[in-house]
Order: sequence, then C-alpha cells, then structure tokens
Amino acid sequence: MITSNNLDIDTILEILEEQVLKSVGRRLSEAEIIVIKGSWDGKDYKEMASDGGYNSYYLQQKVAPPLWNMLSQVIGNGVKVKKIYLKNILFKLAKNDYVEKLEFSEAENERLVGKTLIYGELPKTKYFHGRQKEINYLKRRIASSKESSIALIGVGGVGKSSLVVKLVEEILTENSDIYECVVWKTIEAYSSLEELVDGLIKVLRLKINDESLQEKIVFLLKNLQSRRYLLVLDGFEGLVQAENFAKRVEYGKFLFQLIDEQHKSYTIVTSQLPLEEIIEVNTNLIISSIKIQGLDENAGISMLHEKGLYGESCKKLIETYRGNPSELEVVAERINRFWGGDVEKFFEYKTTLMGQQVQSMLNQQFRQAGLLNDLQKNLMIYLAEKTSEELTSIPFPKILEDIKKQFIDVSTSEVIIALEVLEQRSLIEVNKKTIKQEISYSLQPVIKKYILVDPLGLVYKSSNQSKANNYNQE
Ligand SMILES: Nc1ncnc2c1ncn2[C@@H]1O[C@H](COP(=O)(O)OP(=O)(O)OP(=O)(O)O)[C@@H](O)[C@H]1O
Ligand SMILES: [Mg+2]
Repeated sequence: MITSNNLDIDTILEILEEQVLKSVGRRLSEAEIIVIKGSWDGKDYKEMASDGGYNSYYLQQKVAPPLWNMLSQVIGNGVKVKKIYLKNILFKLAKNDYVEKLEFSEAENERLVGKTLIYGELPKTKYFHGRQKEINYLKRRIASSKESSIALIGVGGVGKSSLVVKLVEEILTENSDIYECVVWKTIEAYSSLEELVDGLIKVLRLKINDESLQEKIVFLLKNLQSRRYLLVLDGFEGLVQAENFAKRVEYGKFLFQLIDEQHKSYTIVTSQLPLEEIIEVNTNLIISSIKIQGLDENAGISMLHEKGLYGESCKKLIETYRGNPSELEVVAERINRFWGGDVEKFFEYKTTLMGQQVQSMLNQQFRQAGLLNDLQKNLMIYLAEKTSEELTSIPFPKILEDIKKQFIDVSTSEVIIALEVLEQRSLIEVNKKTIKQEISYSLQPVIKKYILVDPLGLVYKSSNQSKANNYNQE
C-alpha cells in the first residue's frame, strides 16, 4: 500500500504534469499547483491562499472548479475528482505509474521509478493473485535490517519471480527513497560465473575492458557497494554445476562477497534448487532461505475465475496441481479450449496436463549429469510406479525394503539422505500428519506423469531401469 508518509507530492506532481501535458497539451499553472499541493496537505483555501500569495476566493471559485473538471478527464477514470478525493486518486495514479515503469522493458534506457533507478528487465506480471502474506512477511524481513539477503526456493513455475516483482513494486511504491537502484538479473540456464558477472556489468551499463574474471568481480562489487541497491538474482539454479567442486566454491565465494560486504543494500535470490546444492562455502552461509509453495485456495480460485473457470471442481484442480500457477495457467487454457471451460468434464478424462515450466525443471533434473544421482532417480521412478499401481503414499520402511532389493549395497542412511534431497527440491512429497505417525512419501501428479511418460526419454535412459510397460498413459 502506498501511504502518504512515503510518497512525496513533488514526485506525484511530476507524474501528473506529464499526464496533463499528454492529455490537454498544457502545463499546470502556478495557482493550480498551489491548489493541488494544498489539497494534498489537507489545507483549506484560506491557508492555501496565504501560503501562496493568492486570494482565497480566486483559488476556490476560479481555479479549483475548472481544475477538478480537467483532472476528472485526465486521471479520474470515471470518477469525478474533488478536493477530498484528490489524495486517493493521486496515490492510485502514482502506483499505476510505478508499476507501468517497472514492467516497461527498454534495454537501452535507464528507467526511473520515483527516485529509484531500475536496471535490468523485470518479468511481466499481468495478472497476480494472492501472496499478500508472503509479500508482507518478506517486506518485514527486508525492513528489519538484521540480514542483507534472502533466498526464495521453490519448484519451477511456482511463482518465485512473479512474487519478487510484486514485492519490489510494493517496496518502491511505499518508499521510493529506500534504494538508489534496483538491479534485476535473470540467470540463464547452464550459465557460468563469468557469464553472470558479465551479465551484471552489462545490466548496470558499466564500462570495462577485457579484464580477468577476478578483476571484473572486484570492479563490479566496488560499483555495487558504492550504492544502496536492491539486487535480484533470479533463477540461481541456472549456475548449478553439480559435479564441479571448484566451480561451486567459486560461486559460493562470489555470493558471499556480494552479500557480506553490502551495508544498506539487499539481495534476493530465487532458485529451484536449495543454494547448498549450487554453491560450496566454508563458512556458514549468511543467506537464509524460505520455501515458496503454490498459491493458496483463495488465490487459486480467483486466478481460475479470471481465466473463466467456475464451480466446486476448481478446488480439486488447485489441489491436483498443488496451486502451481504456471500449471494452473496451462490447464485452465486447455480446459477452456477442449472442454469449453467445464472443469468437471475435464476430470472425467482422468488426465494430468503438464506445463512447460515444470517440464523444463524436470528435464534439467534428469538431463544434467550429477543433478540426480542413480539412487535419487530410482527412488523417484519407484514412487511413480508404486503410487500409480496401488497406494497414493508409500511408507518409509516399505521404500527401504524395496530399494535395498534394487541396490544391494545401499545403506539406510544413504536412502534417507537421498529422500531428504528430493524433498528439499520439492520433487517428492512427505506425508506425516503427527509426530508419532510413520513417514511416507508420494509424488505430486504432474511429476508422476512426467516420470511415467518420460517425454524426452531422459528418465529411464539415465536410470538403470527399463520403462515400466504397465503404465496406462492417460
Ligand atoms: N500470484 C500469481 N497470480 C497469478 N499468476 C501467477 C502468480 N504467480 C505466478 N503466476 C504466473 O505463473 C507463471 C509462473 O510464474 P513464475 O515465472 O514467477 O514462476 P517461477 O517460480 O519463477 O518459475 P521458474 O522457476 O521456472 O523461474 C507465470 O506465467 C506467472 O504469470
Ligand atoms: Mg522464475
């Protein structure tokens, strides 16, 4: 929410002037500015007149009425602008302007949102539902200044990047003084540290000659640290090098330097993989992580409504796809296309649809050497096959017994560690309602489908198993 304490009238006046100029082709007069500023501060016409050296009758009778008429046309959006509503209308105007500028992508020009410079391109978020709890929580943590970084971890398409875009928007609209600049860097899959550093240098439009990676890092850090910035490293899993220890140390060191040496700045990292799997550090990493889950039921329902889907079955849809917005988008689009928007009819076909974002996450897991080891892969295949045949959730002792038949040498602790890694990556689901209850594991339907269908032949090819032929591909 924008509050009057945080937004200054001069910034808003600039936005307003721009709109007035565009719509009616003239600038605001001095008297009009006095009326607008006075109304913003809750003054009456007498006070405005004595502050500005005008006659109060003139301001109230001659300046204000045509001004309100003109503003109703320019910024009213169907509402008649009056003195008492002006502040609210100006808040909205400023907020829309912020959001527009944040989402405006123009690589060449620096964008200024309020007083904050924006570097890099923020992903577009046309529709956004729910997440207020997460946003408020993150805002509190960022404002507490006890730490200078946070990592948001969650499966592909769960909405990490969109959440951070909304968070940045809210932070800036509430207080445009807090950061000098926002730097958004999306990390491409299979990137190297050098590519990340070069990317940041480019995003910040810094000039540097051909230097070594170390020199570039020093230069980048020096530049960043001279400013109060909010840095977003989006898609950190793109750096993962599971098998290269030296690279992992290098990444850890870079992240450590970035976070450790900043003072009033803040770094937000998003990643599909827990950071410990991407980087290696010899001291305790000072970046804490929170896990991002799918949308809650209310947000999911409003998202489905926006896509034209209604009825009780929407809840089942949200549950089946674990509130993953990228999945819900794909499913909603297909339900509209193939079933005329009838969610119940769709469920009669007992099919699970898979979206691109989750599929590319799983492709990366199964394709990239070292990301999933043989034991982890086989555990996932085992869970997919078992849960499609009989139970929906397999108790841990049963998993242990069956896996030990496949891997004769495997120890119980190795199975436990493998299950824990899969759980951290949100690739398997844990069912344990009470402390006393035995733990059991299952897969969410989309992941189960991916494994059993094996669309790119990555699952069974890379495991020591052959594809189960009893699976009925729905
Ligand atoms: N709260 C939300 N309301 C509506 N749509 C959303 C919401 N969050 C995300 N989406 C939509 O879901 C899709 C996936 O979101 P996003 O790209 O933010 O996920 P991600 O977790 O960053 O995925 P990846 O790990 O692949 O980068 C996008 O199309 C986005 O518009
Ligand atoms: Mg993302």
